[in-house]
Amino acid sequence: MNAAISLNGLSKVYAGAAEPALRGVSLAIAPGEIYGFLGPNGAGKSTCIRTLMGFIRPTAGKASILGLDIVKDSVAIKRRVGYLAGEVALYQDMTGRQLMDYLSALQPLKSANCLRRLVEDFQAEMNRPVRELSKGNRQKLGIIQAFAHQPEVLILDEPTGGLDPLMQEVFYDLVATASGDGASVFFSSHNLSEVQRVCRRIGFIKNGRLVAEHPVNRQEAGAKTARQRFIVSFDGPAPYFQIKNLPGVKVSRQNSGDLTIEVVGELAPLLKLLGQCRVKRLTSREQDIESEFLNLYQEES
Ligand SMILES: Nc1ncnc2c1ncn2[C@@H]1O[C@H](COP(=O)(O)OP(=O)(O)OP(=O)(O)O)[C@@H](O)[C@H]1O
Ligand SMILES: [Mg+2]
Repeated sequence: MNAAISLNGLSKVYAGAAEPALRGVSLAIAPGEIYGFLGPNGAGKSTCIRTLMGFIRPTAGKASILGLDIVKDSVAIKRRVGYLAGEVALYQDMTGRQLMDYLSALQPLKSANCLRRLVEDFQAEMNRPVRELSKGNRQKLGIIQAFAHQPEVLILDEPTGGLDPLMQEVFYDLVATASGDGASVFFSSHNLSEVQRVCRRIGFIKNGRLVAEHPVNRQEAGAKTARQRFIVSFDGPAPYFQIKNLPGVKVSRQNSGDLTIEVVGELAPLLKLLGQCRVKRLTSREQDIESEFLNLYQEES
């Protein structure tokens, strides 16, 4: 299967900069996939996104979107991709309505209904000049213009920045629907729980390098064949051998005395056994990713 977005050793050194902003980033995003791009301030997320969109040129490496080369075919790419910049720069004197009319001349709408629904869902302010809008209301217009023409690929730099929690939910629904319709979504974020909730895969960038990639096993969590991992602390001795004897369970002891337990299939026997023990703390794999990501941030400072 051809990737919707593919990066191969993508690098960027800004003119006069001592250090590269992007150092050989390679990744591939499948059609319909939602990919979350996380990393500390200055890690290179916006640089990567602006390079993909052809606003700046890579120093080395290659990338393609829908099979189109990001350098040679950047005009065609801009027509087919929905893009949201990190700092939404819209025409300040236009109203939302005028802006959408103007942009739809550049990127024709497949359906006027889609735009109408977006405006409704986000309760967007369409009749005031952009310069009079609050940050969140400007962000809504930025999101609406990215999705309005129902593009096959969406590249969004911190899309939920400035949105209130209700509007964040609207955005998550929108991304899920777009992905369900086959669109690929690549977006940067500082919010691990949001990317864990909406993305199928998470990439972590630091100092211009892609240092980790994780699948998010949301759908698999309920499946019979999925492997789930727990870390369990006990008040008192850990029932290592009893757990070891359960079907489909692998267990190992950590230095702290906690047990790492991996289960394939039925959780009931493990939960029943744990119910008879004095469990102090139970951590699931997702939270495990959380601490790993936090560590990646902390090493930075
Ligand atoms: N136009 C530019 N000229 C020179 N250096 C730049 C330019 N834009 C970004 N940089 C540098 O490139 C590096 C990566 O910046 P970038 O904006 O891509 O980070 P980011 O991951 O998007 O950070 P944030 O989370 O703060 O948005 C930083 O060291 C930054 O100072
Ligand atoms: Mg940025």
